Amino acid sequence: MPFKYLMSKSSKALQTLSSATESLILTWKEIAALFGLQPDIYKNPLHKPLLKPVTAILIGAGHRGNIYSDYALIRPDELNIVGVAEVHAVRNGLFARKHKIPSSKRFYAWEDVFKKEKFADAVIIATPDNVHIGPCIKALEKGYDVLLEKPIACTEEECRLILNTAKATGRIVGVCHVLRYSPYFRQLKHIIDSGTIGNIVSVQHLEPIEFVHMTHSYVRGNWRNSKITSPIILAKSCHDTDILRWLINEPAEQIQCFGNLTLFKAENAPAGSTERCTDGCAVESTCPFSALQIYYRDRKRLYVFDLPKDSRKTEKVILKKLKTTNYGRCVYRMDNDQPDHLTVNIQFGKNITAAFSMEAFTSYEGRCTRIMGTKGDIVGDMETYTITDFRTGKETTWSLKTDFHGGGDHRLMKDWVQAVGHQNPGILSSTIGVSVESHLMAFAAERSRWNKTIENVIV
Ligand SMILES: NC(=O)c1ccc[n+]([C@@H]2O[C@H](COP(=O)([O-])OP(=O)(O)OC[C@H]3O[C@@H](n4cnc5c(N)ncnc54)[C@H](O)[C@@H]3O)[C@@H](O)[C@H]2O)c1
Repeated sequence: MPFKYLMSKSSKALQTLSSATESLILTWKEIAALFGLQPDIYKNPLHKPLLKPVTAILIGAGHRGNIYSDYALIRPDELNIVGVAEVHAVRNGLFARKHKIPSSKRFYAWEDVFKKEKFADAVIIATPDNVHIGPCIKALEKGYDVLLEKPIACTEEECRLILNTAKATGRIVGVCHVLRYSPYFRQLKHIIDSGTIGNIVSVQHLEPIEFVHMTHSYVRGNWRNSKITSPIILAKSCHDTDILRWLINEPAEQIQCFGNLTLFKAENAPAGSTERCTDGCAVESTCPFSALQIYYRDRKRLYVFDLPKDSRKTEKVILKKLKTTNYGRCVYRMDNDQPDHLTVNIQFGKNITAAFSMEAFTSYEGRCTRIMGTKGDIVGDMETYTITDFRTGKETTWSLKTDFHGGGDHRLMKDWVQAVGHQNPGILSSTIGVSVESHLMAFAAERSRWNKTIENVIV
């Protein structure tokens, strides 16, 4: 299926392709021909036909686990989900039905999977952050290959333990750094590596979380408290430390971080506000973070509520969830501690510098990146990027619309299935070996934030 890309402002190459106007729709194939990319974005020159589908067991059938496993429904010739471990009974049942998993291969706690003889090629781990280390080590010891959600684990020691166990067992561990698989970042990487903008001198990278996403996940949600889960620089921004490391292609040497929690704390609770937004809060109608507005009136981010199929019950269930779960609580009265803004300075090899910011208070999500090279620069925002050639002054702008995560989720699945099916980790961009580095950067940044130091990144 060709993806349509909208190109504005023609480059010299494109002018030779057609008498380009200000805006031109090109198929991926045409774009690929211009920039020497793969003609099909799902394709990787290392892909080969599989003799049989890879079999996998999902551990944690929540939001992410379902996204990855859905690949088996789209490509049953490549992936077959043959088992599940999920503590939530409704999710467990729904998932087992969706993938036709027999009761003998359905488990509640992840530990029970490994009490059985190995019955699949691989395990997909999509449990909460603090439930990665246990199933991952067990899976490797049992001889399974692994697809592991980020963050790899919650502490540096645990990340290194997974890395060392993967090395010792010789198993494949792919980490879900999905941005590496998005066409946008793949193209940026290709353009940088081709030398189009010369040598990189510095990078500015912004991760706008968006205020509703921030309150949903990092104030009310499962990632609100760094002691229960992991620090936000790891939980949210290990994607960004990874992307910077990957694009720059030099190791991070030193890192420094500032940042704190400014707004979402008790001392900022407005007069007249209540424990829950449903308790008759006096400022509910003017509060941008009102749970009634976000979940009930706007119907955003409802996937956490496991809503019944019968839409007549939706309203009642949402209201009940707002009265009984953290999602209905006042954002100023939670047990959250994650910073709502961070700035990180990184010194990479060859004196390349990067400035990264994570911001809660934005009306938009995505990533914004400015890459400064010796021969040109790139300005991008996950959907559009412009390359400017210093010598000719020519600007080439691409605008490409993809799905959630820049289209990386199922492209990662494709590469991981290929890697497992052919026992070739080289097909994967985000193996455990390269992914650990982004986590070590994040841990060092967090140490810097607390200790007010410049930290060395020791790989
Ligand atoms: N790659 C990305 O971009 C990305 C995006 C969001 C989340 N994540 C990560 O993905 C992971 C899952 O996040 P999610 O949003 O899907 O969460 P989720 O809560 O929707 O899913 C996790 C599931 O694990 C289940 N679970 C918990 N403990 C279990 C146990 N002991 N045994 C079996 N099942 C258990 C839960 O019941 C839940 O259904 C987290 O580590 C998160 O940080 C990654």
